[in-house]
Amino acid sequence: MTSDPNSRRQFLAFLAGSPLLAAAGLDTEWLHTLTGRRGDALLDVADRAVTAGTHPVLQPPLIANATDALDVFDFEAVARQNIPVAHWGYLMTGTDDDGTIAANRAGFERWTLKPRRLIDVSRVDGSVSLFGARYPSPIVVNPLGSQKAFHKDGEIATAKAARAKDHLMVLSTVATTSIEDVIAARGGPVWFQLYHQSDWSITKQMVQRVERAGAPAIAFTVDLLGGSNRETMIREARRDTRDCKKCHLGGAPLPGVSGRVDDRDNRRKPNLVGYEKRPPQLEKGTPTWEFVDRLKQATGMKVLLKGIVTEDDAALAVEHGVDGLFVSNHGGRAENSRRATIVSLPEVVKGTGGRIPVICDGGFRRGTDVFKAMALGATSVGIGRPYIWGLGAFGQEGVEAVLAIMRREFELTMKQSGATTLSQITARHIAPA
Ligand SMILES: Cc1cc2nc3c(=O)[nH]c(=O)nc-3n(C[C@H](O)[C@H](O)[C@H](O)COP(=O)(O)O)c2cc1C
Repeated sequence: MTSDPNSRRQFLAFLAGSPLLAAAGLDTEWLHTLTGRRGDALLDVADRAVTAGTHPVLQPPLIANATDALDVFDFEAVARQNIPVAHWGYLMTGTDDDGTIAANRAGFERWTLKPRRLIDVSRVDGSVSLFGARYPSPIVVNPLGSQKAFHKDGEIATAKAARAKDHLMVLSTVATTSIEDVIAARGGPVWFQLYHQSDWSITKQMVQRVERAGAPAIAFTVDLLGGSNRETMIREARRDTRDCKKCHLGGAPLPGVSGRVDDRDNRRKPNLVGYEKRPPQLEKGTPTWEFVDRLKQATGMKVLLKGIVTEDDAALAVEHGVDGLFVSNHGGRAENSRRATIVSLPEVVKGTGGRIPVICDGGFRRGTDVFKAMALGATSVGIGRPYIWGLGAFGQEGVEAVLAIMRREFELTMKQSGATTLSQITARHIAPA
């Protein structure tokens, strides 16, 4: 195969539409099945996989133990084998043609590293302080819903891994484990991610509950307020021969509006139940900055916004007294912007004027990715799918291994670059590709 990326892409495009595939008894569905992507996203994935030599056709056998993994991708293949296909679709879906997932990864290619030499790097310290709590690594275990869909131990396994490796964990509103149980398993505070409810009285009770449970911060997710169109999730669910209605009262996922299964059944969502029936205070429309003000007034916890991608919104967030931001496009599952979060990061940092912490997530898979975000002004970075690959593959042990691999890679990049603390990583360590 040619080493020129454009020619390779053309070749893959040709392959995807080629009668040769049909002649070989294969079709584009085959490429789709191998890569989990369609259209341009399929070509992006195939192109990058061939470049990296990790195209599934070229892959070595599945790893049998978490300790055999060389990188986080080694867990993906094992998890894919273990997780039911509909749940795999929920995990891996983006929106429309999944183009923003590919964009998140491709964004890192826009930057190269400029290592400095002859600095004593025998000791590096990758620790970060967030609202007074210090963690040995800036890699955050991001909120990700329904983790018992990927492994029977779900969020408990994740929390125990976060405890073992001492990482900050953020729990999703739609977790399959309660905030109280997760804080107990983590053996210390975790942050809570908030999806607002249509009734403010319920939202407020939820916020008060997580504060009582000991969460020091709450991250209000603002990137799904317009809904999202998750086609891969629906396609994969259709390939699942099990009866969705056995667990999800409403049945299989619905197109368009929310990206969620038509669940309306909170039996497995303990953070959504147990609230007093008070006179409802229904939201008028979807939340605006007025909601953010209300949220700030309702709690003593730090309030962060998750899903900010522009300088203007970052500046508004500071004006409204927000305590921190996640630069996020929900791992390519919100709007199909095709704009990588690593591309949005510098303008968000600029909008904050450096006054509040900025956590960037979306497509982080390598220590070099983490390094580039730190060089562009991030305080920390968040990971989603990689630790779920670890969870789906080997439970708690898999999550621990993913965290250890990413930390090891990041600290190696620090050493190679001549930066021994996070504050020493600056824009002078990277250059546009
Ligand atoms: C299956 C899945 C479920 C998610 N659930 C939530 C959620 O409940 N709340 C939230 O704010 N973000 C959620 N996210 C987004 C993640 O917090 C994070 O922004 C994203 O996964 C980062 O991208 P990455 O998966 O490429 O690392 C979810 C992501 C995935 C893949």
